[in-house]
Amino acid sequence: MKKIYLFLTITAFAGLLFTACQDGTTTSNGENDTHAQTVSDISDVYSLPDLPYEYNSLEPHIDARTMEIHHSRHHQGYINNFNKAISGTPLENMDIEDILGSVSQHSVAVRNNGGGHYNHELYWSILSPDGGGSPSGELAEAINSAFESFQNFKDQLQTAGTTQFGSGWAWLIVNQNGDLQVTQTPNQDNPLMDVSTVRGTPILGVDVWEHAYYLHYQNKRGDYLKAFWNVVNWDEVAARYSAAKR
Ligand SMILES: [Fe+2]
Repeated sequence: MKKIYLFLTITAFAGLLFTACQDGTTTSNGENDTHAQTVSDISDVYSLPDLPYEYNSLEPHIDARTMEIHHSRHHQGYINNFNKAISGTPLENMDIEDILGSVSQHSVAVRNNGGGHYNHELYWSILSPDGGGSPSGELAEAINSAFESFQNFKDQLQTAGTTQFGSGWAWLIVNQNGDLQVTQTPNQDNPLMDVSTVRGTPILGVDVWEHAYYLHYQNKRGDYLKAFWNVVNWDEVAARYSAAKR
């Protein structure tokens, strides 16, 4: 009788554990993973950066609910799964730029979630409630030189964002010749990656995944991209340009 009771207890416990794991669905892109944070032996090399502004401070251009979910759920999910993917491997001790630069040699989880973390950290940094307007100084000169005008550059980035099929990003990069260039990547790829068709250092990135805009703009990705210009932190883009040119 005792044996039967013990068997039933173990079976019930295993069932509960299985159910709990189902709640923390782990996907390769980290969209819904809530599990990794509670597993003690997972690396914690990367953590969610605080935003230098409030979730509601980019309104009406990007709404507070979108910002909150995007930052606290989506970005956190990429970080959880990136930590899990590199845990116990030599990648724990590599710079993320070097990991992404050799991403063809790593797992799909490293590509999707390492890219997801890098891309979102960049995206938050080039947004500001005090943003908008146009760049000045060396960056403005470089944009005029590469694209003939600031408006032409904006048109090219808008086109890159709207024509990216499905989820992805539109970028302003310093390419391998040291010139500014607009490009686009699918999923959480970026131009640092050795799998990217066009390579370079991203200095501005705009997220065109639906999670970045759908609550407020629904299917109107173009409207989100137009509004994006009102919150671009050009000082940060200029600093990234200077760093990339060095
Ligand atoms: Fe995103």
